[in-house]
Amino acid sequence: MKRLTTRAEILADRPPAHRRAVVMTMGALHEGHASLIRAARQADDHVTVSIFVNPTQFGPHEDLDKYPRSLDADLELCEKLGVDTVFTPTADQVYARDPIVTVDPGPLGSQLEGAVRPSHFRGVLTVVQKLLHLTEPTDAFFGEKDYQQLTLIKAMVADLDQQVSIIGVPTSREADGLARSSRNLYLSASQREQAVALPRALAAGSLQSDVAAIEAAAAAELTGLDVDYAVVRSTDLGPPAPGECRLLIAARVGATRLLDNCAVEVRSV
Ligand code: PAF
Repeated sequence: MKRLTTRAEILADRPPAHRRAVVMTMGALHEGHASLIRAARQADDHVTVSIFVNPTQFGPHEDLDKYPRSLDADLELCEKLGVDTVFTPTADQVYARDPIVTVDPGPLGSQLEGAVRPSHFRGVLTVVQKLLHLTEPTDAFFGEKDYQQLTLIKAMVADLDQQVSIIGVPTSREADGLARSSRNLYLSASQREQAVALPRALAAGSLQSDVAAIEAAAAAELTGLDVDYAVVRSTDLGPPAPGECRLLIAARVGATRLLDNCAVEVRSV
């Protein structure tokens, strides 16, 4: 496995492989990331994993400084999973200067997560765009757990005519249903128990078929948590319509904000 750390190195290292995958991460790798890497390994001849805690997607009072970092273990996992190249740049390699031009996420960027984290998706799309240019993949793999992020990345490459397939990978879950996330590390034992309300809310919502009933069933499971939203949207995050939709939840357990979502079948709106 090759480890590259500079912009010049990754630009000079163009793998000859026909099918090239990138899995972009912020490190603190867990089984959820492993499932993305396995999907990439299965689909493509060359797999690059980037590990970069992107400062521009964190708001001023968010957890950039305390975001979990475990580079040695991350490299070990990548090696074990057969990754070809790991790209671990510092912030000044990715941002030679404060960018003058950034990617505007449009109206969807200020809804749901964007309503709570106003500059988040501009930072995400800008770094994803830069990493796509730096790694030139044919396929890029992202988790469905961050469903709004995945939707916006798909919209970005479609609207900017980029020749890369964006592949969503189903959410990896703990045995009790909790979606795997690096931020789960912040939870105390009792908060970890409370956090299971999120997958319970998704399960309760999926038993219903009317939008209001889906949202009410989910909300009932989230009693006691600080809920930002528990809403049904279309699969591209527009207003819900009969057919397959998405139930999306964001809630704080203590100071930790958790996200989850699942497909739901809507019969009436
Ligand atoms: O999902 C993440 O870990 C990040 O938002 C990403 C896509 C690596 C961009 O920094």
